[in-house]
Amino acid sequence: SLASSSNDTDFLRCISTSVPSQLVQTPNSPSFRQLLVSSIRNARFVAPATASPPLCIVTPTNASHVQAAVRCGRRHGVRVRVRSGGHDYEGLSYRSVHPNSEAFAVIDLAKLHAVRVDPRKATAWVDSGASIGDLYYHVATADPRLGFPAGVCSTVGLGGLLSGGGMGLMMRKYGLSADNVLDATMVDAYGNLLADKKAMGDDLFWAIRGGGGGNFGIVLSWKVRLVPVPPTVTFFKLAKTMDQGAVNAVTKWQTLAPALPDDLTIRVIVENRRANFEALYLGKCAAVVPTLRSRFPELGVTHADCKEMSWLQYTAYIYYGDSTINRSMALGPFIKNKSDYVQKALTNETWEKIFLWPKDAASGQLVLEPHGGRMGHIAANDTPFPHRSSVLYNIQYVEHWNGKGPGGDLTPTPNWIGSLYDFMAQFVSKNPRAAYVNYRDLDIGVNTVVGGVTSYESGKVWGERYFGPANFRRLAEVKRRVDAGDYFRNEQSVPPLPLN
Ligand code: FDA
Repeated sequence: SLASSSNDTDFLRCISTSVPSQLVQTPNSPSFRQLLVSSIRNARFVAPATASPPLCIVTPTNASHVQAAVRCGRRHGVRVRVRSGGHDYEGLSYRSVHPNSEAFAVIDLAKLHAVRVDPRKATAWVDSGASIGDLYYHVATADPRLGFPAGVCSTVGLGGLLSGGGMGLMMRKYGLSADNVLDATMVDAYGNLLADKKAMGDDLFWAIRGGGGGNFGIVLSWKVRLVPVPPTVTFFKLAKTMDQGAVNAVTKWQTLAPALPDDLTIRVIVENRRANFEALYLGKCAAVVPTLRSRFPELGVTHADCKEMSWLQYTAYIYYGDSTINRSMALGPFIKNKSDYVQKALTNETWEKIFLWPKDAASGQLVLEPHGGRMGHIAANDTPFPHRSSVLYNIQYVEHWNGKGPGGDLTPTPNWIGSLYDFMAQFVSKNPRAAYVNYRDLDIGVNTVVGGVTSYESGKVWGERYFGPANFRRLAEVKRRVDAGDYFRNEQSVPPLPLN
């Protein structure tokens, strides 16, 4: 329902009785804009046309503030969106796509970022507002023999990452980040604190580990399983141009990478008509070079390509490279992302077309992440994330642009990503064409609201692509049980399953 401005005032008054005023910023507050953009990662969502400011941003320092915000929101017809690291590819944690359509407030969990490691049990409790880098650092300093399988970009927030899956270079050995969640604490759609998975029930605990953020409640804290890492890991990067056989190497990589020992992960970044191979081996250089020379001679790996380091050093190295200077979080370009899953290897000829796409301008990037290993041993319905044994690898499409072309901030110029994605339809997973929820993409479908509730039919369009038909239905069943009134609603939130 549309919140009227008197509702807005009542909502803010309600918040002010239970949350200290310094933790609530409204658009009139001098630091509101700075806070709003503080974790925005995509210039597309700072531009005026796509920005509709929230009524306020609450920055809770404990669970009661989150509970109060939800209760006040319910009482006065104001929705909340929760933000942890702010990396959502469509900005859904802090913006509403249709300006002025529905008043909303943002609960920004940045101040809740504690990490408590129990090295003896190899577990940690981590708050949603912590970044992956925070977790890596605290784990490795508590015990350098422990690590956690998560993403490459250390600024990603745990709240969104664990809600949607979490892919990284240890997933072939240990699964997704979400596969390693043992327990959690959350605030539900009524403002109740659910202290652990028992309070949630099995179905809700299943849903929050990969069913996407912003759907079922606000997860405050997660208990995760830590995994063993050796004292030395090996990282290498090798670039191949088309003249150096990049097309052949990528063609071979498609079936080789998912079948390699699960201590060894090679991902590929295709950009500017080159293939950049990046590998992590959980062990020493001397042990991995012979494997690669025999199984992937096309790469021509030698000992000189290896960089041996601790696992913690690797997590910084893969993100920052050799440079320790360029760590500023300055907003970069406009960015659009899309994703696909490949089940059957593409031919040489197809890869050649992709490398040259479009013929005149190579402005985009493809990131290929191999599955196989542990990923193939988890059933498609064990968690909401269904892309398991059937998958060779994930493709992420990334396009950067400056927002000054004819498409402005909305459409990349040239539209490399849109035309390539269309071309790829024939080669990737079908019925439905799958996508990864953490690479959120509103082009694949958005909700419509019918009679005050998100329609299941509209949700199916995008939902079956992220979760598969059976998992999506189960997520909608959970939604009906825990949030039948559809309080946590956004452009791609799971709808409650209709009763008949
Ligand atoms: P953000 O705060 O924007 O939240 C994302 C969604 O989850 C929103 O819908 C939000 O409302 C909801 N949400 C947030 N906190 C919640 C909470 N506590 N409880 C319930 N819902 C919550 N992915 C990957 O798997 N591997 C990778 O290596 C990378 N790398 C990467 C790099 C960069 C630069 C970006 C921008 C993104 C990635 N990603 C990624 C994708 C990333 O996993 C995805 O965007 C996550 O949802 C981001 O989580 P944040 O908490 O940062 O986002």
